Amino acid sequence: MKHVISLFDFNAEDLRTIFETTAELKARLLKGERPVLLPGRVLTQVFEKPSLRTRVSFEAAIIHLGGTSIFLSGKDAGLHGRESLPDVARVLTDYSDAVVLRTFSHELIQEFAGYSSCPVINGLSDRNHPCQALTDIFTIQEIFGADHSRKIVFVGDGNNVANSLAVAAALLKIPFTLAAPEEYQLPEDFLSQLQNYVPHAEVEQTTDPYEAVRDAGVIYTDVWASMGQESERDERKAIFAPYQVNAKLFAAAPKDCRFMHCLPAHRGEEVTDDVIDGDRSLVFPQAENRMHLAKGLLVWLLGSTTV
Ligand code: CP
Ligand code: NVA
Repeated sequence: MKHVISLFDFNAEDLRTIFETTAELKARLLKGERPVLLPGRVLTQVFEKPSLRTRVSFEAAIIHLGGTSIFLSGKDAGLHGRESLPDVARVLTDYSDAVVLRTFSHELIQEFAGYSSCPVINGLSDRNHPCQALTDIFTIQEIFGADHSRKIVFVGDGNNVANSLAVAAALLKIPFTLAAPEEYQLPEDFLSQLQNYVPHAEVEQTTDPYEAVRDAGVIYTDVWASMGQESERDERKAIFAPYQVNAKLFAAAPKDCRFMHCLPAHRGEEVTDDVIDGDRSLVFPQAENRMHLAKGLLVWLLGSTTV
């Protein structure tokens, strides 16, 4: 059984297959067509943290495909103490065709999947955000083509989003650079895992955002304090101030460089309004693509790939 817990579960061919189905379903939707590829399937979503894009894009996706969706908070699902996690996983997955989990702990998703009778999708953990990264690469390929090798430069915290994006980029031979203060860069054990999994990976880290963006195809950023790190927000604002994505930083990048952000954004912190609302910003096509990608992913996991 396939799960989507980390992009270390994927190879380049998997990504290409998912992107093909996603593109086809997106084109069909633009023509007003919603092929019923997963009739009657039940997608259950259990979230410990807030969500707009992930929750609603998966819900819309399964409805477009002819299925239905159930939402539970982590508390209502009993993830922490009402009963054991293996018992929750066994029961919930017997009612469901797939489960999306958004948690604080990545290990919780891994343990849950160990007892699951259906595919488990990571809807964001403290370590990874695989569905976001798949969408981001799909969106970049729409702009630069499927065989491009323009560099993605992530300016900001080496967090869950940066982690998954680095793996997705490596799988498709796209160079990836993280520009962040040293103590917020991607950890050594992750980098070794990535180099072992994808020996040709071109991943670099630097503390200098201006040097990093000189040959960037995409400048990507995310909040400086992720969900669960709110108490560090003021401290992080001071540390990350030199890493704000603003007009001055963009002026150091090539003219056709685009801007991406997974959203939600803290406008005025990691990105200025003129950049996020500017004509080089892809944030809303990126957010829209979360739904198309969720459809492609669900079909890849649960159905036939024939659209
Ligand atoms: N990008 C993203 O995952 O957004 P939500 O937190 O709103 O789901
Ligand atoms: N890094 C952010 C991403 C939100 C989609 C967080 O974990 O809060």
